[in-house]
Amino acid sequence: MNQTPRGVDDILTQLDERRGIDPDVHGAHLFGLVYPTGHEEIEDLVRSVYDRYLFSNALNPLRFREQASIERELLNSISTLLHRELRAVPPGSMTSGGTESILMSMLTSRSRAQARGIERPMILAPASAHPAYAKAAHLFEMDFVQIPLDDGYRADVDAARSLVTDETCVIVANAYSYPHGVLDPVAELAGLALERGIDCHVDACIGGFILPFLEELGEDIPPWDFRVEGVTTISVDVHKYGYVPKGASAVLHRDDSWARLQPFFYDQWGAGLYATPAIAGARAAAPIIAAWAVIEYLGRDGYRSLVEELRSTTARLRAGIKAIEGLEIVGDPIGPLLAVTSSTVDLYGVADLLEEQGWYLNRNTDPVGLHLMLSPAHRLVVDELVEAIAGAVAQRPVGRGEVPRYS
Ligand SMILES: Cc1ncc(COP(=O)(O)O)c(C=O)c1O
Repeated sequence: MNQTPRGVDDILTQLDERRGIDPDVHGAHLFGLVYPTGHEEIEDLVRSVYDRYLFSNALNPLRFREQASIERELLNSISTLLHRELRAVPPGSMTSGGTESILMSMLTSRSRAQARGIERPMILAPASAHPAYAKAAHLFEMDFVQIPLDDGYRADVDAARSLVTDETCVIVANAYSYPHGVLDPVAELAGLALERGIDCHVDACIGGFILPFLEELGEDIPPWDFRVEGVTTISVDVHKYGYVPKGASAVLHRDDSWARLQPFFYDQWGAGLYATPAIAGARAAAPIIAAWAVIEYLGRDGYRSLVEELRSTTARLRAGIKAIEGLEIVGDPIGPLLAVTSSTVDLYGVADLLEEQGWYLNRNTDPVGLHLMLSPAHRLVVDELVEAIAGAVAQRPVGRGEVPRYS
């Protein structure tokens, strides 16, 4: 820490310089880490909300009653998206992100299993599931078993059936998966969970704000939400395709009594009752209120038209990639996410070259290739992107052997 105070201009100038070293979050040259819409008015609204709630705390719902009431309205809005019946007290909570939502769901499943006498409950999740499930198993001392994928990169239901044991407390299904963008057979996996009397968590962290609107646009989307019998808990990130800054996700349960397994209460410390719905103690209020505001602002129609834009951008990218010799789209992605592989082109070499040109594509390991998660703002650059990929492939680069990084 410096001894004497620094001037504001000095600090901001330095931060501007340092920010310039990292990729521009608005430039639509990044994939997955940020979700720019290219619609300035949405970001202006978020900035205005942040200005009002920047210093608030969502820890104590009794001190900030109105803030807590906005949070309940937000959870109910998200519930309608998932076809969950509305409640005065919604069964679940807002969290800081997909990982925390998943942790809370896995913890709830563990509690239910332990109440049935299972000492070390097991999570059964597709091999394509997000690392958050392995993290939950690590933190909560549970076992973690992967369901192999079928030829279409979906969880193999027969394999899942053979892997379920009396210790399995939850079966996970992706709606849809991060590595390949495919929807798992949710109804079949939930049916298996129902047969075994265990939980089924649907990970709609990516798909939660995409699939309902593809359905509204008339796409044939297999059922994946609370309309599917056996689905017990769903995680949905508002800080992805809900278009709010990081720090907003929801975890919702089918059963009100299960939601009551989530909060932590404590009063043995000399400062009264302390209660939290999830992992965090003090919580930033701004992302929660911004989530409420953006959902109010866009409404179903606004989200649907953004998904329509994303759908046409994805189709353009898909057609562009298919036209490049040697490149192949992996599986049958359902949303704006493409995994690309090749048996003739070194795609890590292509990624290296693109990175030198300021395109930050992600890299998959299975199958080896590129990973592109589109945001609405990519509509502004999609032709340029296809040209850049085609140009890089034409150079037949050889990768520097850099270890693929998770985005
Ligand atoms: C399918 C899926 N689930 C969960 C997560 C975790 O979300 P977060 O990074 O917000 O913790 C991600 C993140 O990419 C994801 O793609």
